[in-house]
Amino acid sequence: MVLDIVIFGGIGDLALRKLLPSLYYLHRDGQMPGQSRILCVSRAEKPRHEFLDLVKEKLAHFLGQDFSEEVWKAFSEVLLYEKIDLAGYDDWVKLKDYLNIGPTDNRNIIYYLSVTPSLFTPICEQLKTNNLNPDCSRVVVEKPLGEDHESACQINDILAKSFSEKQIYRIDHYLGKEAVQNILHLRFSNHLMETVWNKDHIEKIEITVSETVGVEGRAGFFDRTGTLRDMVQNHLMQLLNYIALEPPKSLEADHIRDEKLKVINHLVPIDAGNIAQSSIRAQYSAGKIDDKPVMGYLDDIAEQPYKVDGKGETFVALKVFVDNERWRGVPFYLKTGKRLDRRHAEICIIFKPPETQFYDEPDSNQLIIQIQPELTVSINLLMKKLLGTGSALNKHQNQMDLHSGDTKKVRVPEAYERLLREVIKGDQTYFVRGDEILASWKWIDAIREAWQSESIEMQEYPAGSIGPSLE
Ligand code: BG6
Repeated sequence: MVLDIVIFGGIGDLALRKLLPSLYYLHRDGQMPGQSRILCVSRAEKPRHEFLDLVKEKLAHFLGQDFSEEVWKAFSEVLLYEKIDLAGYDDWVKLKDYLNIGPTDNRNIIYYLSVTPSLFTPICEQLKTNNLNPDCSRVVVEKPLGEDHESACQINDILAKSFSEKQIYRIDHYLGKEAVQNILHLRFSNHLMETVWNKDHIEKIEITVSETVGVEGRAGFFDRTGTLRDMVQNHLMQLLNYIALEPPKSLEADHIRDEKLKVINHLVPIDAGNIAQSSIRAQYSAGKIDDKPVMGYLDDIAEQPYKVDGKGETFVALKVFVDNERWRGVPFYLKTGKRLDRRHAEICIIFKPPETQFYDEPDSNQLIIQIQPELTVSINLLMKKLLGTGSALNKHQNQMDLHSGDTKKVRVPEAYERLLREVIKGDQTYFVRGDEILASWKWIDAIREAWQSESIEMQEYPAGSIGPSLE
């Protein structure tokens, strides 16, 4: 089996920071076929030795102790660089000669479009015109995949003109995280979980992704986009889908993705009627992170070279309902923001108290799935104190940490590495399907419209705080 990976935007930030380090590991760990080549392309003229020096420097930086001269030597042999002018006929002929696709090839070709979506059209058109899109080829794209339903439709159309849905891999890097991939295992391997996974037993679910970073030099993009579109439409909705979906017919990619789509289609719309009680949008003001003073959002973006209007929200909280038999009436609280008190992402399932309550219990049973920084699943059980002088009423919440592996001993691959491995295998399970992305945009668009039509105020929260709360 021959594998060709062509990275458009091949010396861009994502390629150097995430893609090439991931491919280094996959190559080192024998996860790529023997005959593999990686071709990085971009507009810049660059001799191969300069390209290799650049990649080596970045790998050494990002991989730290995992970088080894010996592995690099072997890896660098599969790396190539080409300048491609997207509008230049000769450059595409060069790519065609290089790939040399035959009629009965036993091979895979992966095109990774690590470029702005405005370049999807010329690249996809050229790949098609030059017959570089055979069935054995796959195309990988990632967010931002549109900024609303309409633009997402356009992107889907562009891709569909050159590739079938089976060939398209839309990345949401949250789907490459170990803890997220563990959700279905946890739900469907345990009778204990699946029997209580519904409105009869669950009181509410909190999905939180908090960051300490600010807009980090991305003011232009971020202010236009805001957290609802940057984080909720994709990462948080994916987490919600995995928690809420019905058992799929099988673990085949499309069976799982069918169920995720059904969840989105059953989300109760957040619109003008309920926006005020169901959402918060906010921006951070000056505060402290790790005891260091940081500026507020408006001052942060004023420092940057772009002229922006300061309307992007850096925090969103939503109260969401899934209107189906399993979940009717159970609130899902989605919360995400920048410049919050700590970096962490977790899903907390809060169970109802037992029907007969003998004990006056202020706490609740909880199942907590930590996505980052730690990778743990824990259960809070209420029980009698083992030692001490208390009576049976002297209880405490006992948190049991159930690790699925010792992350200190095992290297946990990064999201991109996992996802690239799946693309190489040709498994679309952890990639977002075209219809799913459109459905999620439709739901998100209604929230943005309601923020506008109901003039929902932009709240403020001090940097380093936990942000405003909906409850
Ligand atoms: C990206 C967003 O998709 O996810 C960023 O564009 C955000 O704004 C990032 O910081 C968070 O990813 P992670 O993996 O660090 O939680």
